Amino acid sequence: MPSSLNTRLALTLVGCLLAGAAMAQPRFDAGKREFDDNCAACHGKDGKGAGSITDLLKKSPPDLSTLARRNGGIFPLARVYEVVEGAGPGHGTRDMPAWGKTYSVEAAEYYIDVPYNQEAYVRTRMLAVVEYIHRLQVK
Ligand code: HEC
Repeated sequence: MPSSLNTRLALTLVGCLLAGAAMAQPRFDAGKREFDDNCAACHGKDGKGAGSITDLLKKSPPDLSTLARRNGGIFPLARVYEVVEGAGPGHGTRDMPAWGKTYSVEAAEYYIDVPYNQEAYVRTRMLAVVEYIHRLQVK
């Protein structure tokens, strides 16, 4: 029957429009979420060092938006990764938590009875936040 076909076509069209509207939402930004949740309290939302709890720290958090500028225009990826992971060479008494360890513990608590690759889990979160810091760089 043509009228039911028309109805079906109309419904399909509505379905496509709704799907399109859903896809138009901003994409999930894992690095930003990681940064906002775990780093912004100290480093500030924009990474410039004006976090909400900085007066509780012995050292002021460095400006993370000028890492490239302070390194001859090149983002020091490996060093940033090491600092965040906490596995780099001694930084004296660190005010900053070692995230590599924190993420490992979190993973272990989350995936209690399920086999998972802990290193992959930690690396994914580390790389997401490091990539986000890269996007915060000023010229
Ligand atoms: C409790 C406060 C605090 C939190 C939370 C924190 N940091 Fe830090 N961060 C610091 C301080 C203070 C320093 C300076 C070095 C030190 O004292 O450990 C620092 C140093 C750094 C550096 C080295 C910058 C440079 O100039 O070499 C990077 C990169 C960094 N933090 C990234 C992060 C990321 C990414 C997160 C979140 C996953 C984070 N920090 C969470 C306090 C913090």
